Amino acid sequence: MSPTIVLITGANSGIGCATAKVFASSSSDYHIIVAGRNLKNCETAVSEIKASGVKGNLTTLLLDVTSQESVDTAASEVEKQFGRLDVLINNAGISDTTLTEVPEFKKRLDAVLTTNITGPAIVSLAFRHLLFKSSNAYSIYVSSGLGSISQTADPSSLRYNSGYTVYRLSKTALNMWAIQEYKELKDKGVKVFIMCPGLVRSNLRGKTEDKVSAGGHAQDPTVSGQTILSIAEGKRDADAGKFVHKDGLYEW
Ligand SMILES: NC(=O)c1ccc[n+]([C@@H]2O[C@H](COP(=O)([O-])OP(=O)(O)OC[C@H]3O[C@@H](n4cnc5c(N)ncnc54)[C@H](OP(=O)(O)O)[C@@H]3O)[C@@H](O)[C@H]2O)c1
Repeated sequence: MSPTIVLITGANSGIGCATAKVFASSSSDYHIIVAGRNLKNCETAVSEIKASGVKGNLTTLLLDVTSQESVDTAASEVEKQFGRLDVLINNAGISDTTLTEVPEFKKRLDAVLTTNITGPAIVSLAFRHLLFKSSNAYSIYVSSGLGSISQTADPSSLRYNSGYTVYRLSKTALNMWAIQEYKELKDKGVKVFIMCPGLVRSNLRGKTEDKVSAGGHAQDPTVSGQTILSIAEGKRDADAGKFVHKDGLYEW
């Protein structure tokens, strides 16, 4: 039987890496393409996942979501190797809180929007024709509850605080992109999901233990990977086009 081909952007670290491991641990039916902007880091991630004794197959792919040329080359490579794509996980992202070396607001804003919204949009368009060749295609966007306008505006919400404005903006825009894609592709055999992975350990906030663990509040990113796997397994199909999280749905 032909494997299910899964591509994860930004898969050398955090949620992307944990998701690759969850898929590879769950079944030998998965071929996971661990994509990232630094091939060596992707190779290290794949070696570590394989060393843990997984069933699925994993390979690496150079893919910088901020470069059209890199995205197009990566899509050609997947087409050449596999001829189709079954699950596209737009996961790569950054937060402006780590851009401490960039003093100008405009440069920080441009960097975050280019990675978190322009990136997933051009990746989606470049790989779309390969999803159309799948008999069971999923396009999954890793967003954030911080992009929810209703939670941001609700004084009783945990997400009602003034921080992370640039990051929130990028995820709100990503949600809009994904809803539009959902409407465009729902009758063309591609199920589109917008998911919040929850507050989990990763390098998103920085690399010190306090930042990685969000002051001790972050969960293991395996939890996020399991939510993404449940989507790809069809368990959340009734929630296509919605803002999903582990335990249910968020308001936009
Ligand atoms: N962790 C959380 O609590 C949390 C909560 C809500 C949403 N999220 C979302 O989860 C996603 C994954 O982030 P994470 O938390 O796992 O953080 P992370 O550990 O920093 O992982 C982010 C990944 O994105 C990659 N990346 C950044 N810029 C890229 C580019 N131009 N091209 C390709 N890859 C690029 C990074 O690569 P490098 O290693 O090369 O930098 C890294 O592999 C993000 O979209 C984030 O917004 C995370």
